[in-house]
Amino acid sequence: MDKTLVVFYSYSGVCRRVAQLLASHHGWPIGEIRDSHPRAGFMGGLRCVLDSMLRLRPAIRYEGPEPADFDAVVIISPIWAYQMAGPMRTFLAHNAKRLPRVAQITTMNGAGASNAVAEAARLLKSAPILTAEFLVREIEDGSGTSRLLAFGDALKSASVDQSRGHRALTEADIALSRQ
Ligand SMILES: Cc1cc2nc3c(=O)[nH]c(=O)nc-3n(C[C@H](O)[C@H](O)[C@H](O)COP(=O)(O)O)c2cc1C
Repeated sequence: MDKTLVVFYSYSGVCRRVAQLLASHHGWPIGEIRDSHPRAGFMGGLRCVLDSMLRLRPAIRYEGPEPADFDAVVIISPIWAYQMAGPMRTFLAHNAKRLPRVAQITTMNGAGASNAVAEAARLLKSAPILTAEFLVREIEDGSGTSRLLAFGDALKSASVDQSRGHRALTEADIALSRQ
């Protein structure tokens, strides 16, 4: 990909770290999705769960470059109650038509990433070209860093594939880009 943007939402800092690692390694710019109404304390956590259970689209602010100016956008968000975090749901719903090809990263403690990928595909009306999920532990202890950077390498190599016709990237692409 020639021009790639990283867009993240983070509640407790893990996705922010993922975005910063990926963007700084590849020299990609970052955009941030923020809550219009910050989620503080117990009620904030409860709102996270309700957003997921009711598939709500909470009000957000986006701070960053215009996504339509890029060839690809990497979206990064956490899992809440087995679903994509609400603020990313809002972002995708608002920007579906202005987003180029999308690659998706989710962070979680253990389960729910496949639901987030399915929801992104529904909102965007096409499946993300590349997806990866990371456990919070893998980001905190650094054991996921090489896989994360390989994800970025695989996305970059998609520009070569583009000249041969579009196809979805696979785990095999990531394995290749590790070598
Ligand atoms: C309200 C809430 C619900 C969560 N539900 C799940 C879940 O269903 N499955 C899971 O694996 N992790 C779950 N988690 C853990 C988050 O996915 C994890 O803390 C997140 O990936 C950290 O990213 P962040 O620091 O960028 O917000 C939940 C966290 C919160 C706050």
